[in-house]
Amino acid sequence: MSSKQNHAQWSSRMGFILAAVGSAVGLGNIWKFPYMVGESGGAVFVLVYLLCIALIGFPILVAEWMIGRRGQKNPMDSYSAVAASEGKSTSWGFIGMVGILGAFIILSFYSVIGGWALNYMTKIAGGQFSGLDSDAVEAVFNTMLASPSTLTIWHTVFMLITGIIVALGVTNGIERAAKVLIPLLGVLLLVIVGYNLMNGGFGEAVTYLFSPDLTKLTGEGSSDIVLSALGHAFFTLSLGMGIMIAYGSYLGNDVSLLSMARTVVILDTVIALAAGLAIFPIIFSNGMDPAAGPGLIFVSLPIAFGSMSAGLVLGTLFFLLITFAALTSSISLIEPSIEFLEERTPMSRTMSVIVASIAIWLLGVAALLSFNVWSDVMIMGNNIFDFLDKLTSKFMLPIAGLAATIFVGWVMNQDSVRSELGLSGGSWTLWQIIAKFVAPIGVIIVFINTLLN
Ligand code: PHE
Repeated sequence: MSSKQNHAQWSSRMGFILAAVGSAVGLGNIWKFPYMVGESGGAVFVLVYLLCIALIGFPILVAEWMIGRRGQKNPMDSYSAVAASEGKSTSWGFIGMVGILGAFIILSFYSVIGGWALNYMTKIAGGQFSGLDSDAVEAVFNTMLASPSTLTIWHTVFMLITGIIVALGVTNGIERAAKVLIPLLGVLLLVIVGYNLMNGGFGEAVTYLFSPDLTKLTGEGSSDIVLSALGHAFFTLSLGMGIMIAYGSYLGNDVSLLSMARTVVILDTVIALAAGLAIFPIIFSNGMDPAAGPGLIFVSLPIAFGSMSAGLVLGTLFFLLITFAALTSSISLIEPSIEFLEERTPMSRTMSVIVASIAIWLLGVAALLSFNVWSDVMIMGNNIFDFLDKLTSKFMLPIAGLAATIFVGWVMNQDSVRSELGLSGGSWTLWQIIAKFVAPIGVIIVFINTLLN
């Protein structure tokens, strides 16, 4: 969002909801959520994730919007302005900086995956998966990963589209398209779920997703499950990067933050769970490994499309929609860097887009090389791709999110928070318990646990 000229646009409720949902719904829901469930052993992860969304993600989303709406500026300056008006230190603005960096890093690997989706769209449209068995489909995926040039080409295309959209201005086209395409994505997910109902593995998938084995929360690796779930709650709601603060700054005072947040959180969660029901039945009925990692949707969905009668059309459309969902998120990820360059250097907006895109693209190339020629390059025990992912999801986002709840729960004047949220009596007490204690303490406990393990 370029600051000034967009102010008017988001003041329409619909525009704001679309922008926020567009940012939240993306690869996090369809690509990342299912494979994290698979890597973390199924329903326990889902359970912890849902708790993190409700008790931590929801209040922080409201907190970030509130900071933006009060500050009416970019994330860094919004923090400083609100802190100053409360008589507190303006060094709170530093948290905005963590967000800018986090978004920069996330986009680098996000674009690589966006490139996979584009590549798969062309593969499916070209009939490459028709009639293939699961081994052959996996082989197609592994061939793509092994080729630095293929990965680079599609990563470049995705980054180019992102840069062009942002340079041209985000509002009209994207908003209007999102209104049609996000619901269409939901419908197509349901079509795949329907296909799964008739093709086996469904019961197993439901058990896998919704019947948690709570003993997994006490054993080894349990803190990792909780930390991953928390990190993903931030990632999927686009929290901890200043993005929701920026969106809040375009928001009029007549809008209820709580009901908006409810809409965004419910839509985001429903799409992630639907993605789970679209993917795991295929995994189980084909005897594949749910813990396959980042390739999960790319080895499961082509099998379904390859054997459906309308698979060519549906599959192409589906990967087109994933790409679109990824683009409405990637434009929100690049914006903080651009805004920063625009405001802090003499560069024009277009020049800022070019410079930011190239820098992000370069980091993305380093990330994609970790699937092939740089697979041995390790940073603290992780390859480059995993390192960037973990650094942001497990550390940077939660820290910035923690700061947002502490700010709204403890630094800001509570009477004004109450009247802004329009709460009274029991519901205000509940909000206070969650915003002041549950959310921040939850994040802190998870952190201490990681540090000790
Ligand atoms: N929330 C987006 C998704 O789930 C990813 C994203 C993260 C977008 C952070 C913006 C900021 O795909």
